[in-house]
Amino acid sequence: MRLLTLPLALLAAIGLSSAARAQDATAGEAVFKTQCSVCHSPLAGKNMVGPSLFGVVGRVAGQIPGFHYSAANKESGLTWDAPTLDRYLTNPQAVVPKTIMPYAGLKDAGKRADLIAYLSTLH
Ligand code: HEC
Repeated sequence: MRLLTLPLALLAAIGLSSAARAQDATAGEAVFKTQCSVCHSPLAGKNMVGPSLFGVVGRVAGQIPGFHYSAANKESGLTWDAPTLDRYLTNPQAVVPKTIMPYAGLKDAGKRADLIAYLSTLH
């Protein structure tokens, strides 16, 4: 019995720690507030320095009416799915050279995953 208990406990611990690392939209909202909300609103139709991020996940780049995008963004041909957002938010200028988004990038992969989980809730 003891021989079985230890591996099971280990498996449970591994399961718990990967759950703790899973994408967390609530944590992502906090990341959004500190990193993005000076320039972006999560509300539909509300453009600030940056375009509204309502419904951004799955959207083609440069589509918000009335927002003056750079040609670089508008002509990027990107769709903001989760993998593309992950690359973009790591280093915006690397993915969209000459973008006018003045953001250096979020280097922490866990925070990016949380943030993208939060952005996915904006529908
Ligand atoms: C200092 C202002 C600023 C900050 C901070 C900022 N952005 Fe932006 N963002 C912009 C601007 C300006 C654009 C338009 C870029 C262009 O047209 O080249 C933009 C564009 C975008 C786009 C493309 C939207 C579209 O409709 O094509 C996404 C996605 C985005 N930002 C996400 C974020 C996220 C997520 C954060 C936080 C990690 C963030 N931005 C932080 C100003 C900012």
